[in-house]
Amino acid sequence: MKVLIIGSGGREHALAHKISQSKACERVFMAPGNGGTVGVAEPVQIDPMNFDQLAGYVHVNKIDFVVVGPESPLVAGLVDYLGADARTCEVPVFGPNKMAAQLEGSKDFAKGFMLRHGIPTACYATFAGSEYAQAAEYVARKGAPIVLKADGLAAGKGVRVCLAPGEAEDALRDMLLDGKYGAAGAKVVVEDYLDGRELSVFAVCDGKDYVLLPTAKDYKRVGEGDSGPNTGGMGAVSPVWYADADFMEKVDSQVVRPTMRGLRADGIDYRGFLYFGLMRVAGEPYVIEYNCRMGDPETEAVLPRIKSDLLPLLYAAARGGLGPQAAVDLYPQACATVVLASAGYPGEYSKGKAIKIGGAVAGAMIYHAGTALENHVLTTAGGRVMAVSALGDTLRDALGICYAQIEAVRYEGKVYRRDIGLDLGG
Ligand SMILES: Nc1ncnc2c1ncn2[C@@H]1O[C@H](COP(=O)(O)OP(=O)(O)O)[C@@H](O)[C@H]1O
Ligand SMILES: [Mg+2]
Repeated sequence: MKVLIIGSGGREHALAHKISQSKACERVFMAPGNGGTVGVAEPVQIDPMNFDQLAGYVHVNKIDFVVVGPESPLVAGLVDYLGADARTCEVPVFGPNKMAAQLEGSKDFAKGFMLRHGIPTACYATFAGSEYAQAAEYVARKGAPIVLKADGLAAGKGVRVCLAPGEAEDALRDMLLDGKYGAAGAKVVVEDYLDGRELSVFAVCDGKDYVLLPTAKDYKRVGEGDSGPNTGGMGAVSPVWYADADFMEKVDSQVVRPTMRGLRADGIDYRGFLYFGLMRVAGEPYVIEYNCRMGDPETEAVLPRIKSDLLPLLYAAARGGLGPQAAVDLYPQACATVVLASAGYPGEYSKGKAIKIGGAVAGAMIYHAGTALENHVLTTAGGRVMAVSALGDTLRDALGICYAQIEAVRYEGKVYRRDIGLDLGG
């Protein structure tokens, strides 16, 4: 099978690596890929948002299967486009269609969906730009702590968790009056603050059935001790010990199955990865958000734990034929992932710094994200440069391998968190 993966991050590198190991895989292509994916996937210089060019490429190169990594093309309707274009309508695509991707594309849509289908989530209200006065009154009445969310896609920067009095008033003005969140902030979801432990649960869905993948926790803040601004993610670990069998049974019965039933009831054909961002509050699961794709860097901590061949699973899901018995075999080890970033990220940072990888530490995997290969020289090309993952009998062992490998990676402005997994016994 010739597989085209859409995207260019560590998530897509990990997907390409896993898919390339499949017996069913003949060649892997990636549009556009990065400086480190060339070893595992043939680069295709097409932007993920250029649907017409992607369709042309799939047709001309006789691609058998398309796997979409990031949310932007999904929310913009890439799957619908390929399904409607005469050149590509017969090619299975793994990823939700535009309607289904609204679970991530609109926080208000997701909250309405959860309310409609009895899925546990924080109480909320949604306000449009013209309803500033009502929103301010609601925020004042609720008091701190409270959470404000820009409705649309905001690359992880659209949520303000307001702990102190007055913060929510500022956030509300930024979103509804000052337009600081652009179109994403045209509507704002105001929700109750949930005090608990966060974790992520992932499902491979085929429209009817689903398979759960290993749980993970990611580290969003740039600084150690969860300080500083939010990032795309600075590390991840899998599994998460507080997602024990009891809790996962609740997740399945109270969150995952009601979500699948709700999607069917609403006439939404969801095929692809579905990410459940959860908070465990007093032993009970609450949904913080849905994402319509895998997390990054959670993918880099989850895929190494999967023993089964992933490609036939994704292919079956894309064709609606997973079946109720589908499952994945796992390795028993824990996995840790530590992200190497560029100094200044998530603010301004420089690019084009030469990267030297001094040596390969046994058991460590390097997934590239913001890297480029120019004239055979590997350089930095993004805020998050690469993710280093390792399996270990314990989380601490896995982290030891990651940090040893990180020592061997050199570039100007290398920054990373040294406390990934420490709160989980690593
Ligand atoms: N209701 C809530 N209570 C407490 N923390 C929250 C709540 N909603 C979101 N958060 C925090 O804010 C982060 C970002 O919110 P999320 O809804 O996941 O938005 P996004 O990932 O699109 O930025 C979450 O990972 C969580 O840490
Ligand atoms: Mg999130």
